[in-house]
Amino acid sequence: MEKKDLLTKGKAKELYRTSDDSKLIMDFTDDTSAFDGKKIEQLAGKGTVNNRFNNFIMKYLDSKGIACHLLDELSDRESLVLSLDMFPIECVVRNYAAGSICKRLGLEEGMKFENPIFEFFYKDDDLGDPMINDNHIVAFGWANREDIKILEGLTLEINKHLLELFDSADLILVDFKLEFGKNNNKIFLGDEFTPDGCRVWDKETKEKLDKDRFRLGLGDVVKSYQEIAYRIGINLNKP
Ligand code: TMP
Ligand code: ASP
Repeated sequence: MEKKDLLTKGKAKELYRTSDDSKLIMDFTDDTSAFDGKKIEQLAGKGTVNNRFNNFIMKYLDSKGIACHLLDELSDRESLVLSLDMFPIECVVRNYAAGSICKRLGLEEGMKFENPIFEFFYKDDDLGDPMINDNHIVAFGWANREDIKILEGLTLEINKHLLELFDSADLILVDFKLEFGKNNNKIFLGDEFTPDGCRVWDKETKEKLDKDRFRLGLGDVVKSYQEIAYRIGINLNKP
């Protein structure tokens, strides 16, 4: 598959066109961003860890019947994916209180929710990715009611599978963000699932092992991502 010109440059990934219009190459860079791009640093080795991490999770979800955009791992940092028409929205699910919901509702970090809480955000860094609801999504034409139901259902189903996976590795999956898109009228999980877009704590010590280490300046960011990978059975050395 021939890698062609750069299509888009995100904060932690680059997307390239290929000789096949329906496929793209996703390149995980070492760039690490937080606070809607206000804090950016290069963390050596993060691209490789995230590429392998994402591919493991997408294959795992695929085995559970979830359609994902991943087609093939091409190199340490690159994967071939299906080109999707992305919904400009982020689907977040929370099992425990952390991050923005604590600020918004005055909750104590670590509170366990009886049922997962699902939220939509509008993907726009300049606006600080504001929280939105179904009515905003329909009013502005970002998705229709039927697709909204599917996005919420898929996110909650993925949460069930991932809670199981992380729990078996003595890890708490606190929350995460997903992005979906359409190809030929079918909805696929796109973008990525890596420690950049979720919160994961050690079950015993509650130590933070995800991108909060970068946001809060706790250090050992890539080492912690490797720790999560090791514990859920990802071989980071080979595809
Ligand atoms: P939040 O607490 O900042 O709302 O984030 C909830 C979860 O979703 C957390 O795991 C981080 C992830 N997330 C992103 O990765 N990118 C985003 O733009 C947003 C809004 C959340
Ligand atoms: N993903 C967003 C950013 O890169 C928000 C965050 O992770 O804090 O800025």
